[in-house]
Amino acid sequence: MSDHPLTLTTIDDARSWRAAAHSRGETVVLVPTMGALHDGHLELVRRAREEGDQVIVSIFVNPTQFGPNEDFEAYPRTLELDVAKLKSNGCCDAVFAPDPIEMYPFGSNKTWVTVDRLGDHLCGATRPGHFKGVTTVVARFFTILTPDVAVFGLKDAQQFFILKRMAHEMGFPTRLAGIPTVREADGLAMSSRNRYLNASERAAAPIVNRSLQTAHHSISKGGMRDVDKIILDIEAQLLAEPTCRPDYVSVVDTEELQPLESLESGSQVLIAVAAYFGTARLIDNTIVDVP
Ligand code: PAJ
Repeated sequence: MSDHPLTLTTIDDARSWRAAAHSRGETVVLVPTMGALHDGHLELVRRAREEGDQVIVSIFVNPTQFGPNEDFEAYPRTLELDVAKLKSNGCCDAVFAPDPIEMYPFGSNKTWVTVDRLGDHLCGATRPGHFKGVTTVVARFFTILTPDVAVFGLKDAQQFFILKRMAHEMGFPTRLAGIPTVREADGLAMSSRNRYLNASERAAAPIVNRSLQTAHHSISKGGMRDVDKIILDIEAQLLAEPTCRPDYVSVVDTEELQPLESLESGSQVLIAVAAYFGTARLIDNTIVDVP
């Protein structure tokens, strides 16, 4: 464990760092991020420390996962502050913060990693090309660093399931660990985008988690099996907040992330929500084991 995470900016330096760890017989754990670190990210880094010997956090605002009308330009870039937070968190040995030219040497790629079908719904439907950007950049990080373990948050459950499938099918020697969503005291999922919320939007935003928890409870304790009703109930709760504009509410299986018509006993389902509060698009979800 280091007080001063070493900041690496080139692929060559990152590979040398990886090789040095390897030669000492140490395992490497990667936590990929886009920076603007909050306590949710820092919890991932703490959990990463439990997964292996050397923890490296990547900080890269990946242009290819943002759509043309999304917040790529506005996305907060706070590298110095992020490194300071990682330093006081004390669980990170190195930061990999590459320039875009390192990650995209020709500016725009001709080579892409895509996972069919799992990205068709939820965020994939409203953010075309988003997951292609995510899988391509994460595959590149995996190739550069060959981590033994990579840690991701289940707040982005669709991203986690897609990356797990990619790593398995591509044969990456990396185990993916999924960490439960870290929340504010009122249940709002921590997100770098929460800083876009004004006071009334911030006050309204916990409805996303509350509506998901009500649905979770109605399935696991109340015997609810009617998917249409589950979705309508969540939408009604969201729409009762004047500042909330739902993007999607979906109930899908956790294998291929396909919309379900009914809930089968013994299955596992993902209920996922995306909603706008002002300009901020927030996502949250819950995973339910149907009794
Ligand atoms: P970013 O949004 O910065 O998130 C980095 C990691 O932190 C992701 O695995 C995300 O799921 C996790 N995370 C964010 N908020 C969380 C919370 N409240 N609780 C638990 N985990 C949380 O996700 C990305 O970046 C990018 O798509 C990336 C994978 C880095 C590829 O560019």
